[in-house]
Amino acid sequence: MSKDLKIIAFCCHYCAFTAADLAGTMRLQYPPEVHIVRLPCTGKVDVNMLLQAFVDGADGVMVAGCEVGGCHFLEGNIRAKKRVEYAKQKLHETGVNPERLEMFHVAASQGPLFAKTANEFTKKIKTLIEK
Ligand code: FES
Repeated sequence: MSKDLKIIAFCCHYCAFTAADLAGTMRLQYPPEVHIVRLPCTGKVDVNMLLQAFVDGADGVMVAGCEVGGCHFLEGNIRAKKRVEYAKQKLHETGVNPERLEMFHVAASQGPLFAKTANEFTKKIKTLIEK
């Protein structure tokens, strides 16, 4: 029997979380394996937090924030993107496939995009885990 997947989605309150909420309101399905952690902004994400999620058993980690230029804290999502890139390097150095960590940009009105992104990322993680 295969183990249940665990995907952590760090979502900013203003866009990605709102989009996830909208997806729910629209009855769009995304996998129950995706566990949302709401942050005020993806700028709150730090490298240790990302790596710790894997230490704690996450199979995949998504960071989802506002579109470029749309961060409510101006450049939080730009900082998050740099931290995600750095954390990907660290994952690679420790033998973890860096594709298990990705950053996405989703506007608050894009519930369908959030659901699609969560579905596709989950599918990709399933494939990577089975390899
Ligand atoms: Fe959404 Fe900063 S408020 S990424």
